[in-house]
Amino acid sequence: MIQKNSLIPPGEIVREALSRPTIFKNEEPLSLEWLPSRLPHRETQLRFLAELFRSVIDRPGTTSPKILVTGDIGTGKTVLTQRFGTDITRTAKTLKLNLQYIHINCREFRGSLFMILKRVLQNFTPQFPQRGFSSEELLHILLDQLESKNLHIILTLDEADVLIKAEGSTSLYNLTRIQEERPGRPVRLSLIVIIRELRNLDDLDRSTQSTLQRNVIRLDRYTISQLESILRERVELAFKEGTISEEVVEFIADMAAPAGDARYAIELVWRAGKYADTETSREVKAEHVRAAAQSVYPVMRTDYAQHLNQHEKLLLLGLARTLERTQETYASMGETEIAYKMACEEYKEPYRAHTQVWKYVQTLSATGIISTQPSTAGFRGKTTLLGLPTAPASAIRRWLESSLVRRP
Ligand SMILES: Nc1ncnc2c1ncn2[C@@H]1O[C@H](COP(=O)(O)OP(=O)(O)OP(=O)(O)O)[C@@H](O)[C@H]1O
Ligand SMILES: [Mg+2]
Repeated sequence: MIQKNSLIPPGEIVREALSRPTIFKNEEPLSLEWLPSRLPHRETQLRFLAELFRSVIDRPGTTSPKILVTGDIGTGKTVLTQRFGTDITRTAKTLKLNLQYIHINCREFRGSLFMILKRVLQNFTPQFPQRGFSSEELLHILLDQLESKNLHIILTLDEADVLIKAEGSTSLYNLTRIQEERPGRPVRLSLIVIIRELRNLDDLDRSTQSTLQRNVIRLDRYTISQLESILRERVELAFKEGTISEEVVEFIADMAAPAGDARYAIELVWRAGKYADTETSREVKAEHVRAAAQSVYPVMRTDYAQHLNQHEKLLLLGLARTLERTQETYASMGETEIAYKMACEEYKEPYRAHTQVWKYVQTLSATGIISTQPSTAGFRGKTTLLGLPTAPASAIRRWLESSLVRRP
C-alpha cells in the first residue's frame, strides 16, 4: 500500500517495513509444514493407532496392519499420521527394531503406484533403474529389499483418493495382498491409507474394501472449542505475549467452525497477524481477522459460490487443477476444457459442448471468480486465457473437491 502522502521514498518501502517491529515471535508454527508435538483432540486416535501397531513392535514380522484414515479437509489426517510415524520410529529405534515410516502423497505422484513404489525403492537404492518393471514386480523387489535389510516399513498413502481414481482397485488390492503370496516369510510392509471421501471406497473390489474397512479411523470436523484450543497452542508459540487476545482467537475459531477445518483457522490467524504488522498495530484486532477472511478463500464464502451449478463448479475445478499443476498465471481455454472433461468423467456428469462451456466461462468471469484475457504470444493460435485472481488454485481445488457431489 503506497500512500500518497507517505514520507518514505518509494525505493525504501520494503527496507522500512522490515525494520519495523513485528508481533510474531516465530512464524514457523503457523506454517503448513510444521509438525506440532502435541495434537489436541486427536490424542485418542493417536493412541488407537499405537494399539493397532503394537504387534509390529512387540512381535515384528507377525502382523502387518492395514488402516484406513478418513475425514474432511483439515481434520488432521496428515498431521495425525505424520506424528504417529515420527513417534513410532523413535520408539522402534530405542528398541533396536529396524522400522521406517514413509509418508507418500499420492497426488504428487499423480496416483501412479508405479511412481510411488519407485520413490519408496529409491529410499533404499538411490540408483534404482528407471524402467523395465511393472508395479507388481516393483512390489516384490521392495519386499525382497526389506527382507535383505531386515527392515519393516509403515507406508502411508496420503490422498489415496487420487490413487483410486487413477488406478481403480488394482493397486490397493496388490498392496494389501502381496504378502499373502509369500507365505511363511515374515511380513514387513504395513499400510495406512488416507482417503477424504469414504465413498471412493465403492470403486474398490469387495475384498480390498473389506480389508480396509476392518480398521477405520474417522476424523470428525473440529468444533469451535476444539479449533480454539488448537489455535491457542499455535498462537502461544507464534505470537509475542499480549499481541492477540482470547477474544480474537475465539472469533477466528468461530469463523473456521462451519468447515471444521484447522488448516483454514491456522491460515486465518497467520494472515490476520500479517495485516496487523502491515498497519504496525501492536495487536491483532477483529478487523484484521475480517480482512484476512476476505483474502483467504473469498470464492468459498461469496453467496454466489453457493449458487454455482455443477458444471460451473466442474469447470472451475478443471481450471484450478490445471493452474496448480502448471504453476502458471493463466491456462488456455483448450487446456481448461480438457481438464473440465476429465472432472466430468470423475463426477460422472456428461460433459457439455464447447458453446455451453464458453457460457460458463462468461458467467464465472462476470462474478470475478475467474479472469479472462486474450492470448498473448507464446500460446499457439488465438485463444482466451483463464486465471484465478481471488484465491490460490490449490485452495479452490480443495474447496471444490470437498463440496462437489458425485452422481451415484
Ligand atoms: N489436532 C490438531 N492439533 C494441532 N494441529 C492440527 C490438528 N489437526 C490439524 N492440525 C493442523 O491443521 C492443518 C491441517 O491439518 P491436516 O493437513 O492434517 O489436515 P488433513 O485432514 O490432512 O486435510 P486435507 O484433507 O486437506 O489433506 C495442519 O497445519 C495441521 O498441523
Ligand atoms: Mg492431508
